[in-house]
Amino acid sequence: MEKRQELYAGKAKSVHATDDPDRLILTFRDDTSAFDGERMESLARKGMVNNRFNAFIMEKLQEAGIPTHFDRRLSDTESLVKNLEMIPVECVVRNIAAGGLVKRLGVEEGQALEPPTFELFLKNDALHDPMINESLAETFGWATPEQLAEMKALTFRVNEVLKQLFAEGGLLLVDYKLEFGLFKGEIVLGDEFSPDGCRLWDAETREKLDKDRFRQGLGGVIEAYEEVGRRIGIDFD
Ligand code: CDP
Repeated sequence: MEKRQELYAGKAKSVHATDDPDRLILTFRDDTSAFDGERMESLARKGMVNNRFNAFIMEKLQEAGIPTHFDRRLSDTESLVKNLEMIPVECVVRNIAAGGLVKRLGVEEGQALEPPTFELFLKNDALHDPMINESLAETFGWATPEQLAEMKALTFRVNEVLKQLFAEGGLLLVDYKLEFGLFKGEIVLGDEFSPDGCRLWDAETREKLDKDRFRQGLGGVIEAYEEVGRRIGIDFD
């Protein structure tokens, strides 16, 4: 697989074309951003840790029958993925109240959410990823009702698989964001799953072990990511 030109660089990953038009290479960088890129920092080992974390999770999801764009890890910081036509809608499921939900609705952080909630956001940094709904997505052509129904069903299936996986490591999956795309007409999970895009708390102490450590200046960010990884069986060496 030949790595060709860079197609774009996001806040934490870069995307390169390959000699196969159906495949891309994702490079996980050490760059870390928060608050729509307002705060940027480089954290040593982050690219390697998130690349391995994502590979492990995507393989677990694939084994559970959830279609993902992930093909294989190529190196410490690179993975080969299917070239999706991305849908500009972020799907968020929450099992416990935290982050934006607490701010928006004034509910208490840590409150269990039964049943888990499902929210849609438009992927648009300039607009700070505004919350949207099915009606807006359909009218503006971001996704069809059928695609949205499939994305919602897949996002909840991911919850069942990952809640269990993290629980076995003594962790609570508080919330997470997924992005989907189309590959030959099929809805497929894209982007990444890492502690950058979810919240994970220690089940006993409720210590935050995800990107909130960076957002809140708590320190030990990558150490926490590695701790989570080790607890679910990832080998970072
Ligand atoms: O994290 P924030 O307060 O910005 O927003 P949220 O709606 O509480 O985020 C819910 C979950 O989605 C958290 O695990 C975030 O890390 C994740 N998220 C993300 O990865 N990327 C975004 N653009 C928005 C949320």
